[in-house]
Amino acid sequence: MTDRTVVVTGGAGYIGSHTCVVLLDAGWRVVVLDNLDNSSEVAIHRVRELAGEGGARLEFVRGDIRDPADLDRAFGVAPASAVIHFAGRKAVGESVEHPLWYYDHNVTGTVRLLQAMERHHVRDLVFSSSCTVYGEPERVPITEDCALGAMSPYGRTKLQIEDMLRDLAATPGADWRFALLRYFNPVGAHPSGRIGEDPVGIPNNLMPYIMQVAVGRRDHLTVHGDDYPTPDGTAIRDYLHVMDLAEGHLAALDRIDRIEGAVPVNLGTGVGSSVLDVLRAARTATGRPVPAEIGPRRAGDVVAAYSDPALAADLLGWRATRTLDEMCADHWRWQQSNPDGYRS
Ligand code: NAD
Ligand code: WQD
Repeated sequence: MTDRTVVVTGGAGYIGSHTCVVLLDAGWRVVVLDNLDNSSEVAIHRVRELAGEGGARLEFVRGDIRDPADLDRAFGVAPASAVIHFAGRKAVGESVEHPLWYYDHNVTGTVRLLQAMERHHVRDLVFSSSCTVYGEPERVPITEDCALGAMSPYGRTKLQIEDMLRDLAATPGADWRFALLRYFNPVGAHPSGRIGEDPVGIPNNLMPYIMQVAVGRRDHLTVHGDDYPTPDGTAIRDYLHVMDLAEGHLAALDRIDRIEGAVPVNLGTGVGSSVLDVLRAARTATGRPVPAEIGPRRAGDVVAAYSDPALAADLLGWRATRTLDEMCADHWRWQQSNPDGYRS
């Protein structure tokens, strides 16, 4: 157990809410700072409920990471030993339409957060980076030393933040420690079905789309391309259970003393699954037919991206353990019991 405090930006969101449950279970005191732009306060209530007695150690501050006064309110709750930084915008297509919005929330927001950390003497940060920084990967499985080359404004905000953190860590006498966690494709939900991903509007991502078809909110899945140079012709990704990912954040906090400067770490399973693999697993988990049609490729999609997760095991002592079947079963439990997400 620990009596340490961590500030979690974006803690009401999909990955943040699951991470809060894991942190509270491990004894951390958690201060969430979230403007609820892409989330609901219901998620915070449910995190408290899932954490039982630990729920009392969660403080929620509604505010924006771009606002120094909001940051000061969050850091003022209790002296924090570290920050986990999830807050930001994450939709690739939206970032093409509104790049300034993305640079403002993601890059400016992170600058403001780092300034607040300086004011409050906090030096350890776990940052939500993304496999999107690898663009079309030079090889698979992807190791952290693969070439970087994001293909969207969203991805470039992640690269710019990584660069900024590397610059900061390299300043003379700097005592910053930055874990740059490059997540692959998080899916699934807490096994209780009480918290999960709650996309606004039509989902862009595969798993939420499939689950909305299964529950009857949409009539079929369109498979974006079956002419890729892969065994079944559909694109390959590294789907990762959000609970495994949440545990990866706890591992990063626990092992932050092993981080020197700014260190990128892949968080993935190391297993590649095709769109048709996911569709099959989802049909089994849901017991629903999930109709699908083949459509053209989606612009900007890469053929295959999956991680080499060896560094996470060596450095953080973390390994993903949950299977694609569990990801589908848990995502389905959330979707079925909350067909309209937190509005249900
Ligand atoms: P999410 O949208 O569910 O959570 C982000 C949270 O940040 C939301 O609750 C939102 O309200 C909040 N937020 C946004 N802008 C804010 C601001 N300016 N001030 C305060 N709060 C703000 O997204 P998620 O899927 O949980 O992703 C969390 C992080 O992980 C993001 O940085 C995302 O880029 C990164 N990431 C996500 C994925 C993925 O597929 N979900 C993959 C790789 C990386
Ligand atoms: C997976 C596969 C689609 C929807 C995204 C972001 C990336 C990172 C992870 C944040 C692809 C196919 C999808 C559909 C389909 N997030 N698909 N029909 O594109 O790997 O990555 O999430 O950092 O930046 O871009 O995930 O779930 O959108 O797609 O066939 O209706 O499913 O073409 O092959 P992606 P995804």
